[in-house]
Amino acid sequence: MTITRTLVRGVGGYLPERVLTNQELEKTVDTTHEWIVQRTGIEQRHVAAEGEFTSDLATRAAERALKSANMTIADIDFIILATTTPDLTFPATAALVQNKLGMSHGFAFDLQAVCSGFVYAIATADSHLKNGMGKRALVIGAETATRLLDWEDRTTCVLFGDGAGAVVLEAVEADEEDWDQGILASRLRSDGTHWNKLYCDGGVSTTGTTGHVRMEGKEVFRHAVGMITDVVDGVLEDAGFSSDQLDWFVPHQANRRIIDGAGKKVGIPPEKVVVTVNRHANTSAASVPMALNEAVLDGRIKDGDLVMLEAMGGGFTWGACLIRWKS
Ligand code: ACO
Repeated sequence: MTITRTLVRGVGGYLPERVLTNQELEKTVDTTHEWIVQRTGIEQRHVAAEGEFTSDLATRAAERALKSANMTIADIDFIILATTTPDLTFPATAALVQNKLGMSHGFAFDLQAVCSGFVYAIATADSHLKNGMGKRALVIGAETATRLLDWEDRTTCVLFGDGAGAVVLEAVEADEEDWDQGILASRLRSDGTHWNKLYCDGGVSTTGTTGHVRMEGKEVFRHAVGMITDVVDGVLEDAGFSSDQLDWFVPHQANRRIIDGAGKKVGIPPEKVVVTVNRHANTSAASVPMALNEAVLDGRIKDGDLVMLEAMGGGFTWGACLIRWKS
C-alpha cells in the first residue's frame, strides 16, 4: 500500500539590505540596547527599502527556493503566501508574486494567520497535495512587518523586522517502508477570545486605514509557551515520536525568552534549537521559513533529521508541523 507524502525539495530566504540596530533605535525612542537584548534577545532587524514590497521579498525567497529544488516555476502547481502585510488590499500578494515569477498557470492565494501563517500554509499545502490538487507547491512566508509599527511606541517598535522565506513542496507516493519521510503530522489551533491581546488597530472595514500593532506583551508571553507546547506535544503524539527523538526545533522567532521557555518545556536542548531572533527580530510569517533556510544552508538540517516547526501569534493562532527531512 502506498500513501502520499509531502517532501520539502528546496528552501530559500531573503532579507532586505538595510539593517536597523538597537543603537539606532535608542536615538528615536526611549529605549536601550541592553533592555531590548535582555527582554527579547533582539540585537538588530532588517528593514525593507522604500519601494520594496512584501511581494518583492517573497519573489526573491521563492526564486532561491526553486533554485535549491533544482526546479523552475513551470514545475509549480500552486502558491500559498502567508502574510499579514500584503502589498495591496487586493488582489492577493500571492497573485502578484505569481506574476513576478512569470507563472500564469495553476492558482495562488494568501493565507493570514499572522505569526503562525507559515505553519498554517505548510499544513494547508500538504492537505491540498494529498488531495491531488497539484503535485508541487511553493509555500512562502513574507512580511514587511515594520510598516505596521508605531515608531513612537517603544513597547512594540523594537520587536519586529522584515524578510521572507520559502519552500518548494512535492507530493510523492511512498511505499509502507518509506512512510517515515516528509511532513509526518501537523496541528493548527486558534482561539479568537484573545484577539485583542495582539492586533492591528485599523483595517479595511473598520477604520479604512492599516493601523498599528498593539500588544499586551505580558499576556502574549503568558500564553505563548503553553500553547506552543500543546501543539508540539500533540504532533509528536500523532506521529508516534517523543521530544528526545527530535534533531531540530525551528520555532517562530518572536522573543528569545519564549523560544527558551518553549524548548525547555518541550524537552529539547538549546543546541538543537534554531535561533535567528537576535539578527532578524520578529518577522511574523517569515520567521520560521527564514530560520529553516539558514539551518539547511549551513548544513545543520540534513536528510534523515526529524524537524519540528512551530509558531504562535495574533488571533491567537498557533500550530506545529513535524518533518522527516528528505530533500
Ligand atoms: N525599552 C525600554 N523600556 C521599555 C520598553 C523598551 N523598548 N518597552 C517597554 N518598556 C518598559 C515598560 O514601559 C515598563 O516600564 P514601567 O515599569 O515603568 O511601566 C517596563 O519596561 C516593563 O514593561 P513590561 O511590558 O512589563 O516588560 P516585559 O518584561 O513584559 O517585556 C516584552 C516586554 C518584551 C514585550 C514581553 O512582554 C514579551 O516578550 N512579550 C511577548 C510578546 C512578544 O514577543 N510579542 C511579539 C509579537 S507576538 C508573537 O509573535 C508571538
